[in-house]
Amino acid sequence: MSDIPSPRTAIYGAPPSDLVDVPDDAVQVSPLRPGAAALEDLPGKSLEAIVVAAPPGSVERRFVLAHALRALAPGGTLAALAPKDKGGQRLRGELEAFGCTVAERSKARQRICTATRPETVSGVAKAIAEGAPVVVDDMGLHSQPGVFSWNRVDPGTALLLRHLPSFSGRGADLGAGLGILARAVLASAAVSELTLVELDRRAVNASKANLADPRARFLWADARSVALADLDFVVSNPPFHAEGIEDRALGQSFIAAASRMLRRSGTLVLVANRHMPYEETLRAAFRSMTVLADEAGYKIIEARK
Ligand SMILES: C[S@@+](CC[C@H](N)C(=O)[O-])C[C@H]1O[C@@H](n2cnc3c(N)ncnc32)[C@H](O)[C@@H]1O
Repeated sequence: MSDIPSPRTAIYGAPPSDLVDVPDDAVQVSPLRPGAAALEDLPGKSLEAIVVAAPPGSVERRFVLAHALRALAPGGTLAALAPKDKGGQRLRGELEAFGCTVAERSKARQRICTATRPETVSGVAKAIAEGAPVVVDDMGLHSQPGVFSWNRVDPGTALLLRHLPSFSGRGADLGAGLGILARAVLASAAVSELTLVELDRRAVNASKANLADPRARFLWADARSVALADLDFVVSNPPFHAEGIEDRALGQSFIAAASRMLRRSGTLVLVANRHMPYEETLRAAFRSMTVLADEAGYKIIEARK
């Protein structure tokens, strides 16, 4: 048994601090924070309070709210908030369906719901089962609602799979998700090691189950700050959203990070939505670049350091 006492208060994600009070001792339990505790692992009825920045996907959101209620002691307080157009409008109804009496307010385009955990809750086990890790038969992959493109292969990924060069040596997949690209990369016997770097713990766990290959290493980490060096290649379908908000700089930081990780003449192969402004960053960090494909709104770019 762990010697670490279970926390009394918790926080999920990054709720705007001017909209809700977060207890000073709140422990982070979001899967998008490398090293954070897992909400799923908190003992039942152990928390006095939890603040949840509720995620946009409804199955994922109900899973998180259900786990928050499971972990709260009766009488404990739940504050959950989400932008109005990203699940906020449904929060109150979802909490009421679990048996909570909810006070709701609205500020800065967010819906903010607070509730006291009742003695008995209903439908919590069902919501937890619906949002739990699962094998998606169509893809033949372990996955979980909330993970990027959790139940279908992303069209950008599919295009990159069709144009993937045969790599050799040591490489990394930045933002590896469920490990779909990594699996294709490892199909080459000339690849000696591939490090999958991914911010989402749920995706890291799924990719471990999807890739039983001793050459694969898994890092639950932010690709922008990971210390990898002298790589022969990097592959990436870079993110352009951070916790639901479009962030074009994220892909640019991935390109800069890939350049730092590569040896001289090492290659980066990435897929990007055509409208993403990556060319300038690529030109600044690489000696040459080639567009391998330009189809259906996506570009596959190979850049040489
Ligand atoms: C566009 S998806 C690609 C996933 C997978 N490679 C595929 O092609 O299906 C981008 C991935 O990057 C992850 N991600 C987002 N920000 C990250 C960061 N700062 N460091 C590492 N991974 C990140 C996301 O969780 C997501 O799984």
